[in-house]
Amino acid sequence: MIGAGAAGLMCAATAGQRGRSVLLLDHAVKLAEKIRISGGGRCNFTNLDVRPECFLSENPHFCRSALSQYTAHDFLALLERYGIHWHEKTLGQLFCDDGSQAIIDMLDAECRAGGVERRMGVSIEDVSRSDGFEVRTSEGVFRSESLVVATGGLSIPQIGATGLGYRIAGAFGLDVTECAPALVPLTFHADEAARFAPLAGVSFCAEAEASGPVFRENVLFTHKGVSGPAILQVSSYWMPGEPVSLDLMPGKSARAFLDERSASEQRVVNALAEAGLPRRFAQAWAEQEGVDVRLCDLSAPAREALAARLHAWEIRPNGTQGYRKAEVTRGGVSTRALSSKTMMARDVPGLFFVGEVVDVTGWLGGYNFQWAWSSGFVAGKNC
Ligand code: FDA
Repeated sequence: MIGAGAAGLMCAATAGQRGRSVLLLDHAVKLAEKIRISGGGRCNFTNLDVRPECFLSENPHFCRSALSQYTAHDFLALLERYGIHWHEKTLGQLFCDDGSQAIIDMLDAECRAGGVERRMGVSIEDVSRSDGFEVRTSEGVFRSESLVVATGGLSIPQIGATGLGYRIAGAFGLDVTECAPALVPLTFHADEAARFAPLAGVSFCAEAEASGPVFRENVLFTHKGVSGPAILQVSSYWMPGEPVSLDLMPGKSARAFLDERSASEQRVVNALAEAGLPRRFAQAWAEQEGVDVRLCDLSAPAREALAARLHAWEIRPNGTQGYRKAEVTRGGVSTRALSSKTMMARDVPGLFFVGEVVDVTGWLGGYNFQWAWSSGFVAGKNC
């Protein structure tokens, strides 16, 4: 097995505990760094509402089988056995009370219970097929009946992410879909970034949309563009050149709000602040939209136009902050090349791909770890 991250550890433990002899190789020195840094150090390890709709993939149904074979409740039962306490933060997102290390230690103990041999700091030089598989490494050549690739995506190269999994897929003739940073802050053109720079640090609740589902969560202005959970979510659906639409008054009728105050001498900025937008943002937005006026100065058509813009304010990002800041990689080993029931390559018996290296990308909120646990588990049962 290559890659001792979330999916690799789950897969190795599962295979080892069914009596398979498992060697787990990783080039990193430290075990499962992404689990350690995840969820602000508390690991948002799953979600109470795991549905296939919460995952992006060329084949939106592909994740269904693995997610039903190993559910969030199966993972909770595992935590229970280890006495690991957790809490729900928001939107079904479950975090460790005692920090991410508890999860790493648990998976490590599960691997030991399965007799898994683990070697860290090993460089993989080449993978080929002989009688089974042959992996040439800095520590010698290893041969195995099955090979599981759990090398993750491209995000955070600083802690060891590489494209090895995609290269192995390519070498065995498997398609890899186009990859892009996802769950990532979006950036503005320099002039726009300069215009919004005074708003850095300002955040508010909005509904964001970019060619996909609508997410109602916080939007945060940064020195380079926009971030915050709502933006990270839509970044996974955003395509270069497209706008992101923000509803600044989610769940309210801006038209009714403005009409009720049509005779008021209150300035639009103050009304928007009263409606819940941060004053600094309201001021900048009203100036930009040319509505830094009193409410009573707005005609009915002007109120209607303003209401429409409040519900669908378009921002035009020029890019993302890239893999250095992305939580995950969108795209990966094509689901067409894999069995959804086992994660084995359809045309290369014994070769498996699990976790983020596969073209299955979860929303923010514990979905990516659940995919790692579920896909790792099913491959561990079948490799
Ligand atoms: P993962 O990246 O965990 O493991 C891959 C392993 O392969 C690594 O150990 C790596 O060293 C090894 N490897 C890579 N290239 C190699 C090579 N050439 N040779 C040998 N070994 C190699 N998700 C979530 O659900 N909840 C959360 O709270 C968070 N939080 C979060 C925060 C941050 C900052 C990031 C970057 C990401 C998250 N995620 C997350 C996403 C989550 O961490 C990610 O989806 C899973 O770790 C993917 O698990 P994998 O096992 O597939 O890859």
